[in-house]
Amino acid sequence: MEQRKITIADFQKKKESGLKISMLTAYDFPTASLVDQAGIDAILVGDSLGMVVLGYGSTVPVTMDEMVHHCKAVSRAAGHSFVIGDMPFMSYQLSVEQAVANAGRFIKEAGCDAVKLEGGSTMCPAVKAIVEAGIPVCGHIGLTPQTATQLSGFKVQGKNAESARELLQSARNLEAAGAFMIVMECIPDKLAALITRSISIPTIGIGAGKDCDGQVLVVHDILGLFERFTPKFVKRYINLAPEIKAAVGRYREEVEKGIFPAPEHTFSMSDEEAEKI
Ligand code: KIV
Repeated sequence: MEQRKITIADFQKKKESGLKISMLTAYDFPTASLVDQAGIDAILVGDSLGMVVLGYGSTVPVTMDEMVHHCKAVSRAAGHSFVIGDMPFMSYQLSVEQAVANAGRFIKEAGCDAVKLEGGSTMCPAVKAIVEAGIPVCGHIGLTPQTATQLSGFKVQGKNAESARELLQSARNLEAAGAFMIVMECIPDKLAALITRSISIPTIGIGAGKDCDGQVLVVHDILGLFERFTPKFVKRYINLAPEIKAAVGRYREEVEKGIFPAPEHTFSMSDEEAEKI
C-alpha cells in the first residue's frame, strides 16, 4: 500500500477525475494503524467516539481534551491517511476567536491535518476565520448529531424542496467560506447528487447515497463492534463482537480450569536453582 501522505490536492484530483474518496473513523493507535495500512484516504476522529468508545448517550458531552487525546493517538498512526479532527459541541459556537483557538489545538497539539465542524450557513464566519488562520476545514451538513434535538431527532434532512434548497445554499456558502470538503449526513440521494454536482469541492456522504464524491462510516459499525444500534446507512463488513466475546469466554474458561497458561507460555528455571531460593 502507498505510504505517501494524502493531501487536499489528492481529494480535489479524485473529485475531478471521478475517483471515489474513502474515509473511515478511528479513535486509537491500533485501529488507526490498520485503517491507514488498508489504504483509506482520510481518517475522521469523529466526536462519535463519545458514543462508540467513551460510552456516552450522545456526542454532546464530548470535550476538547477528550478529542485532542484521541486525535494524538490517531495522528501517530497515520503515515498515509489524511487525519481530520472533529470539533466537539460548544468548542466553536461561542465566538469566532474560540473556534480558531480550538481548531488550532487540533493541529498544534493533536497533529491533525484538518478539522471538521457541524453546521451550514450560520457556521460560515467560523469556517472562514479558521481557514484564514491556515487550518483546513471540512464542513458537515444534513443531520448534525450535536444539534439533533433542534432537528427533532435523528431524522433524514432535506426531504422537501425548501429544506433541500437551504442545504444546497449551505454547501455553496461553506465552499465560499473556504471549506475544502463537506460531509453530508442523512440526506436523500437526489439532493446529495445535486449538491455534489453544484460545488467544486468534494462531498463525503454518510447516508447520502452513492453519488457523493466519497463515503464515510464509523469503524465500529462496519466491524460489528457497536451493539447499541445500527443505522440504516451502515453496512457491516464483519461481525466482530460475537467473535470477541467467544474468544474472551474461552480465555476465562481456560483460566478457571487451569488450562492456561500452558508450558509454552511459562518461563522455567532448573530444580537445582529453585531449591536454593
Ligand atoms: O463523529 C463522526 O463520526 C461523524 C461522522 C459520522 C460523519 O461526524
